Amino acid sequence: MAGAATSAIKSVLTRHLHASPGSKKIVGVFYKANEYAALNPNFVGCVEGALGIRDWLESQGHQYIVTDDKEGPNSELEKHIPDLHVLITTPFHPAYVTAERIKKAKNLQLLLTAGIGSDHIDLPAAAAAGLTVAEVTGSNVVSVAEDELMRILILVRNFLPGYHQAISGEWNVAAISHRAYDLEGKTVGTVGAGRIGKLLLQRLKPFNCNLLYHDRLKMDPELENQIGAKFEEDLDAMLPKCDIIVINTPLTDKTRGLFDKDRIAKCKKGVLIVNNARGAIMDTQAVADACSSGHVAGYSGDVWFPQPAPKDHPWRYMPNHAMTPHISGTTIDAQLRYAAGTKDMLERYFKGEEFPSQNYIVKEGKLASQYQ
Ligand SMILES: NC(=O)c1ccc[n+]([C@@H]2O[C@H](COP(=O)([O-])OP(=O)(O)OC[C@H]3O[C@@H](n4cnc5c(N)ncnc54)[C@H](O)[C@@H]3O)[C@@H](O)[C@H]2O)c1
Repeated sequence: MAGAATSAIKSVLTRHLHASPGSKKIVGVFYKANEYAALNPNFVGCVEGALGIRDWLESQGHQYIVTDDKEGPNSELEKHIPDLHVLITTPFHPAYVTAERIKKAKNLQLLLTAGIGSDHIDLPAAAAAGLTVAEVTGSNVVSVAEDELMRILILVRNFLPGYHQAISGEWNVAAISHRAYDLEGKTVGTVGAGRIGKLLLQRLKPFNCNLLYHDRLKMDPELENQIGAKFEEDLDAMLPKCDIIVINTPLTDKTRGLFDKDRIAKCKKGVLIVNNARGAIMDTQAVADACSSGHVAGYSGDVWFPQPAPKDHPWRYMPNHAMTPHISGTTIDAQLRYAAGTKDMLERYFKGEEFPSQNYIVKEGKLASQYQ
């Protein structure tokens, strides 16, 4: 009796999970490549490349619309919201899927993230509407970990002012060397040691740093020993020990604004921060103020809020930053992996098969554990 009631509730909660027969309307929102689109046949992550799945989808009778026009009531995306079945989005050019859009999307069943991080979707609203949200877990973790290592070195060695001197005809060694250091011997702490955090720690090991990690979960002792990092259960106890802090958690209710003025004040004076996780984990103004005061000696990352970052975003103008647009997880190698992962999930959706379990962010009205 209880089982029957549960399954009745589930079927109300879950919009028909498997594709019903017939043509589906699938909309993809990606960044536009314009003159760069034709430069690389593997450039599939852009509007023009359309994840390389257009012929495959259309040959099966599905409609596939791809756009970069995502904001506001007159956008191309908004026009298709009322009758689309599947929406493919990407963190690099996030289509913000609000509760209001979800309410309007009466045919929507599936939200796929081509990449990792589905925080641009109102996940509780998606869960309440019975939608499935899934991403291509693992698809670009190496790409991001490599990029973080690069950003650490760029900040530690005070690289960017030297580059600017080179292109502007200057030569002033002292202006760079008075705040350039070796990475060896420094204490590096990652906040979040999941897939990306672990890969970063593994890459840092040969640099002979002192490695710390804070996470909801402690690694098993064998892996911890192999990686050579020490677990710090209390984030606030770890922060003052670190010369370099790297953020590697998803953006959730618990991590939004985690690095506000007070938490940044707990970090060592002169700390370097790398954040390729999500911009909104930081308090924007608190970071800009701490860079201006020198409490944070350098900040680098590729994630902002919102995206694209407006021209007047404070992080564009703060001192000692090494910011870029959102690029670390969209190398050509990463694009091919998240395009293949998206195609695999669409194929399973058409056949009524389950996705790989680690890909689910929202399933049958429930959020994945780290989002709860
Ligand atoms: N810049 C990019 O191009 C890019 C690409 C991929 C992923 N990302 C971001 O990186 C994030 C991490 O990716 P991943 O593949 O390593 O994910 P993951 O799920 O493998 O790891 C996340 C880790 O964070 C921990 N965590 C979650 N909430 C926490 C909390 N409140 N306190 C402490 N630890 C917490 C989890 O336990 C887990 O170990 C993604 O969610 C995404 O936001 C960015």
